[in-house]
Amino acid sequence: MVPIKSLLIGTGSYVPDFVLTNQMLEELVDTNDEWIVKRTGIRERRIAKGMHTWELGVEAGRRAIEDAGVAPEEIDYIILSTCTPDTLSPTMSAIVQDKLGLKNAAAVDINACCTGFCYASDMADSFIKAGKAKTVLVISAETLHHITDYTDRGTCVLFGDGAGAAVYRAVEDGERGIISSFMAADGSGADYLYMEALPLEEDPLHSDRTYSEKNRFLKMNGSAVVRFTAAEVPRAIDEALRRANITPDQVDWVVPHQANLRILDVISKRFSIPKEKIYVNIDRFGNTSSASIPLCLDEMHKNGLLKEGQLIVCTGFGGGLTYGAFVLRV
Ligand code: UT7
Repeated sequence: MVPIKSLLIGTGSYVPDFVLTNQMLEELVDTNDEWIVKRTGIRERRIAKGMHTWELGVEAGRRAIEDAGVAPEEIDYIILSTCTPDTLSPTMSAIVQDKLGLKNAAAVDINACCTGFCYASDMADSFIKAGKAKTVLVISAETLHHITDYTDRGTCVLFGDGAGAAVYRAVEDGERGIISSFMAADGSGADYLYMEALPLEEDPLHSDRTYSEKNRFLKMNGSAVVRFTAAEVPRAIDEALRRANITPDQVDWVVPHQANLRILDVISKRFSIPKEKIYVNIDRFGNTSSASIPLCLDEMHKNGLLKEGQLIVCTGFGGGLTYGAFVLRV
């Protein structure tokens, strides 16, 4: 039997127009451009004023399908990753299914926080290899402004809104496509990135159900997440490379989740990969959670940086805590 691989045949992205600069944040909290740039690498981020998460997802998805050159009815699965859905029901993926007229597609949302695109791509690959789908649309769409406390300088300087998408298709050519993956979680660090969805209610029948707005904002122990990332992301990359049977010097690009420039140094030193091979756009978009990797991939594709046959390692990490990496030959 010819082995099936999941080939990346299209990418798309969408970011809202409104630009929130470091200077604008100086007006909101006690921070400054120099601190933000030095500690994070971020200069500006986008905010989806008056837009739903699903709208960002629809636009990124539409662009990825166009780029892939497939007909809408060829998409047979949509996997949409988000930790900022507009509604828990309906799912964001079902809305995308309708808006884009993907009439033959099953649709499911997943939430693996900032690792969402890696998990969704791994799931797409599994569906394709199992013969359950031929053409899968993966979308990561986030409006992090919803969960950001703009009075907390420790978090509000980091996050931005955006969406990225990828179309994977079953191919039998044996060389190109997703080659390996390694997904993991360590829930012992659950408190490091915490955001309530539904409040704990001791007596729901008699509660007055007043609910503090503040509870919905993300709380983060930033330095604990940095320590976790520095230890576990290299391990995830190691494992994905080992499963792909390739060595770091064969890698053309590393596309990490854009959370902090410091992870670049860790990856670069640990694998002796020059920094020029680690893609960065955090300066312009900040941390867009699961959308950050497909935003990078789309930008790289549009700028002609992805050449056929190149080996790409994508790696994500974040809330859960979750982390993972996958190797893709484009
Ligand atoms: O996407 C999911 C994964 N997320 C991440 O990977 C994010 C990981 N965390 C980070 O990127 C970093 O922890 C931050 C950039 C959020 C913070 O950097 P840090 O070097 O860990 O700073 P810190 O939290 O240890 O704080 C150092 C100092 C503190 O002041 P004192 O106590 O030393 O006087 C903070 O109050 O920096 C202060 N500080 C700020 N100062 C100016 C914290 N935020 C700011 C700010 N502007 N925005």
